[in-house]
Amino acid sequence: MAEFSGKRIVLGITGGVAAYKAAELVRLLIKADAIVDVVLTAAGEHFVGSATFQALTGKPVWSDLWDARSPGGMAHIDLSRGADAVLVAPASADFLAKLAHGQADDLLSTLCLARACPLLVAPAMNRQMWEQAPTRRNARQLADDGIFLLGPASGEQACGEVGPGRMLEAFELFDALAAFFQPKLLAGRTVLLTAGPTFEAIDPVRGLTNSSSGKMGFALARACQEAGAAVTLVSGPVALQTPRGVTRIDVESAGQMREAVLNELPGQDLFIAVAAVADYRPAKSEHDKIKKDGKAKTLELLQNPDILAEVAASPDAPFCVGFAAESQNLAEYAEGKRRAKKLPLVVGNLVQDGLSGDANLVTLFDAQGAHPLPSAAKLVVARAIVAHIAAMLSPR
Ligand code: C5P
Repeated sequence: MAEFSGKRIVLGITGGVAAYKAAELVRLLIKADAIVDVVLTAAGEHFVGSATFQALTGKPVWSDLWDARSPGGMAHIDLSRGADAVLVAPASADFLAKLAHGQADDLLSTLCLARACPLLVAPAMNRQMWEQAPTRRNARQLADDGIFLLGPASGEQACGEVGPGRMLEAFELFDALAAFFQPKLLAGRTVLLTAGPTFEAIDPVRGLTNSSSGKMGFALARACQEAGAAVTLVSGPVALQTPRGVTRIDVESAGQMREAVLNELPGQDLFIAVAAVADYRPAKSEHDKIKKDGKAKTLELLQNPDILAEVAASPDAPFCVGFAAESQNLAEYAEGKRRAKKLPLVVGNLVQDGLSGDANLVTLFDAQGAHPLPSAAKLVVARAIVAHIAAMLSPR
């Protein structure tokens, strides 16, 4: 099922250069099966033409409160009724001011007031405008009124200045909206995760590592955050963007990962160990680069501490989830690990089914037995794992 199947979204576009990003957002939403109605304000029409949005949605674009095409003759009611969310992107300083004061003098502001669904706004303006006292006041008022502010980001602006006020990118708004629709199964919970490989230094330029991409751990961190948890992610060296709202701590070696986990552990409700922690590290890491001298070399290895086993055995241990990536006998090895480390849940997968790719095929092992999940994108798999964990947690 596509991400937005069956969701009806009203996208309001007000006057700002960032209106061009709204076209890409509409394309992403339509591709994900959302039903999108576009409402352009008079100022918005100065920046983007309605023909673009009509072509992208295959539907008429609305801008006039008195539009006679509306079946009930009340475009604001027809559009807002039955919508799952209204998103205004870009939301200008003027539009934020109107919303904060409950003004309703055009189609978009009127339907925002008439809606019975959540309202999200993506501010976009010059940094001075965003930082002025009235805009700060309006933004606080909107948050108090239960309106969700997405961004703005900081960076280069169309006016040539640099600072806060840039609208989030289309893909970021898409992700934020997708997150918004996720059930808040972990609301009020705290989650600590490990992800990625570890790097065990041999000398200043060489080391032992593995091919873990970190994608599954990052997807799980994102899924936990979307489900309403406060998430801390301890990550080995990976080239991945931190999911929005997640606190990230970067480490290299298993020893550093253990230290970071033990530091962050107090007060955590859940510990999810996704990292492919190196089982062994060199007995010593050379201070200077090892030079080749024509002689054979032997590397002495010491076993690393098992972070997950240590956390699971600690007093007041959180609910612990382990991962088992195997190349054969998945059920036997994964269930064996679950029992040996005394874990309520182990997520098992065959390495050939998704170690570094974007999709994964996993089976969940708990005291009730094995629960295979369908093969899917790592984020979809992560959301299913979160749902399984939430069902296992004792209710608050
Ligand atoms: O025993 P094995 O290493 O296969 O177990 C894998 C699980 O244990 C994963 O959840 C992994 O993150 C965790 N682990 C750990 N510390 C280690 C080795 C594995 O936390 N040193």
